[in-house]
Amino acid sequence: MEVIGLDIGFGYTKATNGQRFIVFKSVYGEASELQFREQLLSDPDEEEYLHLEIDDHNYFVGELAERQSVERYFTLDQSQFVAEFTKVLALTPLSQMVERQEPVKLVAGLPISHYRRHRSELINILKGQHPLVIINKNGEREDSVVRVSDVKVVPQPFGTVMNLMLSDLGEVRDRRFLGEKIGVIDVGFRTTDYTIADRTRYSERGSKTTDTGISRAYATIAAKLQESSGINVELYRLYNAVDRGSIKIHGKRYDLKLVKEHAFSQLASQIATDANRLWANDWDIDRVMITGGGGAVLAPFMSSHLKGEIMPVEPGTDTRLNNVRGYWKYGKRLWTRGATATQTE
Ligand SMILES: Nc1ncnc2c1ncn2[C@@H]1O[C@H](COP(=O)(O)OP(=O)(O)OP(=O)(O)O)[C@@H](O)[C@H]1O
Ligand SMILES: [Mg+2]
Repeated sequence: MEVIGLDIGFGYTKATNGQRFIVFKSVYGEASELQFREQLLSDPDEEEYLHLEIDDHNYFVGELAERQSVERYFTLDQSQFVAEFTKVLALTPLSQMVERQEPVKLVAGLPISHYRRHRSELINILKGQHPLVIINKNGEREDSVVRVSDVKVVPQPFGTVMNLMLSDLGEVRDRRFLGEKIGVIDVGFRTTDYTIADRTRYSERGSKTTDTGISRAYATIAAKLQESSGINVELYRLYNAVDRGSIKIHGKRYDLKLVKEHAFSQLASQIATDANRLWANDWDIDRVMITGGGGAVLAPFMSSHLKGEIMPVEPGTDTRLNNVRGYWKYGKRLWTRGATATQTE
């Protein structure tokens, strides 16, 4: 039996079995017949080759789809995302991480405001036997079956809270958090989730989802770029360019620093204003944690607008992985903790 945390985000899909992490862009496309598979030069940063066949459809997934598929699928619509995307995006990392037929127990998340609406749909899609074919870099095919025996769905920012509170064994690791009231702001690609963990309890009043993910800022940047270059750059292709501060289109370099500063600070201020308003009655929050990949990018712009003490991000952590780490720890707690552990707590 293998416990896996799975965070299928609009931007990136993240999965872990506690030892290994698989992260790829939440994009897939029709697989094409690659005539020439040799690599030009070996590349140390090379991404994983994600290619599989499900229900007689042949898919390239993640960066491979971005580079090689003519038809690519990417969405920012929640209902479409659950119904059409989750199966491919979930089975891809599972097929890489789990031995054929080994039962998988899965913890996955949904945005707070879509939790009730999509929870059972998501469980139905993921649970059960999924026959598939894994195709490797050399074009060799391997039949496999992913067998998902249990699925637990939690509201997304819960992962970050669990990650703070639990150790890798699923035990409570830091008792300080048990007595504190912590606000969490999870800025993702499309959504921002706000939640409060009040002495380990979940506060409905302090929780909500808005569509102020980092893609809002990317959309502003893309619009400016279209004005100057005439090219409509897909939002999911912008991360590296924005991170670098410039992009090259048809050989010409466009500077993005100014528009980026502007778009990020505007979005950060809006998210902080939303949080201040949502938590107006919760002035007794001890600390606020900013998480999600967008959180890392926006945190420097947010602190001056946000009320309360902000927990610093530990240097070197990839904040995109906070939720999935917590899902996995929660899974360990649910499914593998022995009786002795319960007594010592
Ligand atoms: N190392 C990194 N690589 C790529 N993106 C990063 C990195 N660090 C931060 N980011 C930012 O994180 C964003 C994605 O964040 P995250 O993975 O938390 O979103 P998501 O969970 O896919 O989206 P949502 O929660 O809306 O479904 C990227 O768009 C980028 O702005
Ligand atoms: Mg997310």
